[in-house]
Amino acid sequence: MAISIQGITKSFGATQVLRGINLEVADGELIALLGASGSGKTTLLRILAGLDWPDAGNVTLDGQDWLALETQVRHVGFVFQHYALFQHMRVRDNIAFGLNVWPRATRPAQAEITARVEELLNLVQIKALGDRFPAQLSGGQRQRVALARALAIHPKLLLLDEPFGALDAKVRKDLRRWLRELHEQLGMTTIFVTHDQEEAFELADRIVLMGEGRIEQVGTPDEIYEHPASPFVARFLGGVNEIAAEVTNGHIRVAGAETETLARIAVGDGAVDLFVRPQEIDLEAAPQALARIRSITSSGPVLRYDVTLPESDKAIEVELPREVARRSNLRQGDAVHVRIRQGRVFAPALHPANQPASPQPAQARAGI
Ligand SMILES: Nc1ncnc2c1ncn2[C@@H]1O[C@H](COP(=O)(O)OP(=O)(O)O)[C@@H](O)[C@H]1O
Ligand SMILES: [Mg+2]
Repeated sequence: MAISIQGITKSFGATQVLRGINLEVADGELIALLGASGSGKTTLLRILAGLDWPDAGNVTLDGQDWLALETQVRHVGFVFQHYALFQHMRVRDNIAFGLNVWPRATRPAQAEITARVEELLNLVQIKALGDRFPAQLSGGQRQRVALARALAIHPKLLLLDEPFGALDAKVRKDLRRWLRELHEQLGMTTIFVTHDQEEAFELADRIVLMGEGRIEQVGTPDEIYEHPASPFVARFLGGVNEIAAEVTNGHIRVAGAETETLARIAVGDGAVDLFVRPQEIDLEAAPQALARIRSITSSGPVLRYDVTLPESDKAIEVELPREVARRSNLRQGDAVHVRIRQGRVFAPALHPANQPASPQPAQARAGI
C-alpha cells in the first residue's frame, strides 16, 4: 500500500499540533517518524488509523480517499506503547480478537482462525505461550502478542507507536532487530513512531524527522546523518559544536583553529555558525597554539576533550579514538593545534518547511 499524505493540519484548541504534513510512503516501506515528545507523531498516526480527523488535508492509499473510509474497513494494524492486551483473555484469544469480532459474513471459519493464531504464535516466536494470560508474560513478550494481534487481520498498513518504549534497553534492541527481520519477511507498509534516534536509524528504510508539527527532513539514515537539512536537525541528532566563524569569499575562518581543508561555501561574507561534530576535529600538541585543553574525560572507546578557543568563552568538544589519544598523549592544560576537517553552515532564516512547493534552494544548505 502506497500512502500519500497531503497538507495535513490539526489543532487542539489554540495549539496547532500538525502544521502541514506532506509525505509519500512507498509500498512495503518501513518508515520511522522520529521526533521529540510533543512533536505530533501520535496525532499523525491516529489520523492515519482513523481515530482522529485532520482539520485540513488528504490521505490517499493507492489513490483511494483513505479518510472517507470507516475505521473498520481500513484494515490497519495498530500497536501502542502501553500494551493494550485484554487481561482476562489468554494470549491465543487476544490474538484472535480482531478476527472474532468481524461480522459473521466476512469472519473466517473457527478452524481457520485457530490456524491463523498458531501461525502468528510461531511468527512472533511465542509458540509455547498461547495459553498464558498477559500478566504471566514479560514486557517484551506482551509486545510480541500485541503485534501478533495487529497482524491477525492481514493489515494493509501497520502503525506502531513507540511499541518498545516501555521496555528496557536490551529487550528493545533485540525486538528492534527482530521487527526488522519480520518486516523483511512480510513486506508490509509500516510506520514506526519513536523518539529514540538509535532505534529509528537501525530500523527504518527512511526517517521522517519531525519537530513541532512540521517535517524537518525526510531521508535514509545515512542522508540525514551526513546531510542534516537545518540547524534543527543537526541539533536533534545531538553532540554537535556550534562554532562562531567568519566567511570571506567563500572561505570559512575560525579564530584559533585551522580550517584550510574545509571546502568553500556559497554564502555571502559575514558571521556564520559552523556546525562541527566532535569526531570531525583533530588535535595536536603545539606549545605556541592559543587553544587549550580544559578537561579530558573518557567514555571507554573514545576520549572527550573540552577545548577552549581564543576569543570564545565556550569550550568545543573533540572526540578522539582511544588509540589516537594514546599516541598524541595530550594532557589537561596543554596548548593544542585544532584542525577542523569537516563541518556545515546553514544559511540563516531558511526553513525547509516554509517552502513546501519548490525544491530547497541550493544555498539553503552548504554541506562541506
Ligand atoms: N486530545 C488532545 N487534546 C489536546 N491536546 C492534545 C491532544 N492530543 C495531543 N495533544 C497535544 O498535541 C501535541 C502533540 O502530541 P502528540 O501527537 O501526542 O506528540 P508525540 O506523539 O510526538 O509526543 C502535544 O503538545 C499534546 O499535548
Ligand atoms: Mg506519542
